[in-house]
Order: sequence, then C-alpha cells, then structure tokens
Amino acid sequence: MEHDHRTENKGVSRRGLVQMAGAAGIAGLAAPVIVKAAPDQLRFGFIGTGSRGDYLLKHLKSIDNGRCLALSDISQDHMDRSAQTIGTSPAKYRDYRELLGRNDVDAVMIAVPLFMHFQVTKDALLAGKHVFCEKSLVFKPQEIAELRALVAQRPKQVLQVGLQRRYSEFYQTVKNMVDKGILGNVTNMYAQWHRNPGWKMKPLPNMNDQMMANWRLYKQYSGGLAAELASHQVDVAEWMFGSPPESIIGAGGHDYMFDGRDITDNLQMVYKYPKKQKLVATYLCTTTHLSMFGGTRSEFAEKIMGTEGSVEITVGDDTQPVLAMWYREPSPPPTVTKAGEKKAYAAGATMVSGSAQKGVPILLDRHKVSGSEGFADKEMKYARQWLYSKGVMIPEESQNPVDTELRSFLEDCKKGGRPRANIDVGLNDSATVMLTNKAVEEDRKVLWSELEGMQKAPKA
Ligand SMILES: NC(=O)c1ccc[n+]([C@@H]2O[C@H](COP(=O)([O-])OP(=O)(O)OC[C@H]3O[C@@H](n4cnc5c(N)ncnc54)[C@H](O)[C@@H]3O)[C@@H](O)[C@H]2O)c1
Repeated sequence: MEHDHRTENKGVSRRGLVQMAGAAGIAGLAAPVIVKAAPDQLRFGFIGTGSRGDYLLKHLKSIDNGRCLALSDISQDHMDRSAQTIGTSPAKYRDYRELLGRNDVDAVMIAVPLFMHFQVTKDALLAGKHVFCEKSLVFKPQEIAELRALVAQRPKQVLQVGLQRRYSEFYQTVKNMVDKGILGNVTNMYAQWHRNPGWKMKPLPNMNDQMMANWRLYKQYSGGLAAELASHQVDVAEWMFGSPPESIIGAGGHDYMFDGRDITDNLQMVYKYPKKQKLVATYLCTTTHLSMFGGTRSEFAEKIMGTEGSVEITVGDDTQPVLAMWYREPSPPPTVTKAGEKKAYAAGATMVSGSAQKGVPILLDRHKVSGSEGFADKEMKYARQWLYSKGVMIPEESQNPVDTELRSFLEDCKKGGRPRANIDVGLNDSATVMLTNKAVEEDRKVLWSELEGMQKAPKA
C-alpha cells in the first residue's frame, strides 16, 4: 500500500520526463533498471552528491531501512565517489529528471545548492516521490507559497527538511524542560556559529565552474551565513519559543574576506518573538572560540535562558557528540532581619553575588535509575552518573541525530508518518533566513508580516 501515491499523484510521467530531457538536449534515457531491495527497505535515489550528499550517504550506508538505487549529479567525479561511499552499485544520472523517471524509486534525498532546492523538490513531488531536502528548504519568497500548496495537494507524500537538531534526543529533552517550566520563564536564547575562515574560495580557471563550485559564496545562488548556518539555530529558537519571530534587526557586512565572494561575512542579529522572548545570534568568519562548555567545544552552540535555569546545547558532529549542560539559577540568598530571623530575598534588595553554578549534564531517561533494573545495572548507572557529574564521561544519544533523521524519514515514507522537520518547520525556517538577509541588506527592522508582500513580488 505504501506505493499508492505514485499511481495517484503522477504529476510528471516518464514520458513527460523523457520530453523534458529531450527539450533540454539530453541524450536518450537509460532503460529502466529494476533493482531488488529487501521488502522492508525503502528504495531511494540521491540528488546532489557533493560534500553534504556524500556525508549523508556515508551515514545511509549503515541504515538498514532503505536502499539507494540511484544517484544524480552533474559531476561524474562526485557520483563515482558517492557510488563507492554507499556501495550498493547505484545507477548514475547526470540529469536528475532521469532518476525521477524511475518507477522503482520511492523517495529522493536532495543536497544540491540552495538556489536549486525548490525546482528539484517540486519536480520530485510531481514525479510522486517522497522528498528529503536539505536545509534551507527554499531560496526565494515566492517559492514558499508554491511549495506549501504543492505539498498540501499531495498528503500521501512525505516532505522532510534536513534540520537534524529536531531529531536529537537531547534537544527534544530540552524542549520538554522548556514546556514543563523546568527552566522557569524562558525569556532569551543566545546562539553563535563562528568559523575561521568562513569557507575558502576554490579558485578554478573557468568563472562559471568557479561560481558553481563556490555557490554558497554568491548571493545569486546562496543565502550566505543566514541560510548555511543561522537556519539551524533560528529553527531551534522557533521550536523552543513555539513561534517564528515577529521582527528582526541586525548588523552585518562584507568586511573581512575579499576573495571574490559577495555574501556578508558577519551577522549580528536580534530576533523578537510574540511572547517578548529574544534570540541574539552571531555568525562570524574570523574566530572559532566558544565560551560555553568551559571552552571544550568550538564554533557553534545555543544557550536557552529561563528565570530558573539555563541550558547550553550543541549538536556536535561525527567526532564530538551532542552535549547539553544545565545550569540552575542560584537561589536568592536569605536576608537576616533585625530580629535575627532568616528571611527570603526580597525584590528591591541588592544581591551582591550568587555563587557560581556548576553545570550538570542533562540525562536522558535511559541514563536515569528507574528502580526496575537489576543490581549491577543500577550500580553501573550510579557510577556513570557520578562520572558524568565530574565531567569524566558525557551521556550520549543512542545514535547521531543525522542517522536518526535519515532513518526516521525512511520510516515515515513507509508508514505515512509526519516528520518532525516537516514542511511548516522548513518554510518558517527559510522565511526567517530570507528576512534575516533583508534586515541586514536594508539596514532596518523587518517584520514577519512583510513576508506576504514579498511572496507577491515578481520573480527576479
Ligand atoms: N544539514 C546540514 O547540517 C548541512 C550541512 C552541509 C550542507 N547542507 C546543505 O546541503 C546542500 C548541499 O551543500 P554541499 O555543501 O554538499 O554543496 P556542494 O557544492 O558540495 O554539493 C552540491 C552538489 O550538487 C551538485 N549539483 C549541482 N547542480 C546539480 C544538478 N542540476 N543536478 C544534480 N546535482 C547537481 C554539485 O555538482 C555538487 O556535487 C546545501 O543546501 C547545504 O546548505 C546541510
């Protein structure tokens, strides 16, 4: 039953795809290849086998609920390398529309440059495929409404965005802490993603090749730091605060890196949310230092601040796992009355200092002692908790959130589930990215409500 959508929603037929390919001057399509996957494996293709594509394929190699049947990239070298990476002898197509024409491919994953996300996602949906598209989901305001409408017309097809923090058990735990009031009234967030340098230009003899190889450094193709870095963290803010921002102000510029790029190389932003919460976020290309986690991590992390506690959290990478530290607010010091009784701290009195708070690592349920485990298990958990509290060990997720997002996508395709990083999450995220760049380019406060007008603007 899981493949019904392809017969129902065949927006682009194989014949249509052949015609499109012909119109684009592409030589005849390869004969369809039927490849068998295990019955419980979803059959997918991968479009855009560059740096992220190859990274995801490396993760997909050990994920058993899907099988890669085909790759597409305009670069033969990239496809050849990624075919080795995934190791399933996938078919290779220079034109992604040929891949979309295969009836045995149920889903596609897309990691092409940002300016192409919308077109490839749209073509894939019209061809009846489930879609996983990397962040930031879309590039231009007009694409927001068009993609929303297209997805709404195809309820049986899954669309997931590559915002992997949504798939982290620690981020989910922090979201629960926020919702249950464990951090008190959550008023602020701080986020940083600093790199040094912020991407190196690859100089190539042919200007067109150079621009394509360095697409994220040109405004024509890329949303710059906002799309590539801030997109992850403005999504965390939207998730924690429960709403996209109402307004955005910021300062930024193209001030330090003059190698042919035209994107800004620094952004300092303030986002304001409906319940008066704020996100302060900085994106720099001249430093990597991170003061959270006692300086043990670098580049990127978020801090969620409430009246009763704060959490520092980072998604980490393949070498350093997700880390979340919880700092309780110091209790107000008692004051002593003339009569010698201790009285709770009263508003208006001067608090000289609270004692420094030692952070404690956040534990997932399975790290905690439930009482139902056997003696040895219980002792082991206590021992680990002691080591966690001393910073000797850190509690870890069962798998990298990237593995979780990919496994979950394949599972949702099979069972018709709704992804955590769904179309609404992805489009709000992209809209925030677009407004971030608008605030900096126009050097003014921009409002979320301006989006409507932007979507009606004629296509550039
Ligand atoms: N979620 C994350 O943490 C994360 C991390 C890195 C990148 N990304 C996203 O992944 C996407 C790709 O980034 P990247 O770093 O891999 O870029 P990249 O330049 O390394 O790779 C892009 C690939 O797309 C290919 N391509 C270009 N046009 C194509 C076409 N018409 N058909 C098929 N392939 C085509 C290029 O040849 C290249 O191999 C971007 O949207 C980026 O933001 C996400």
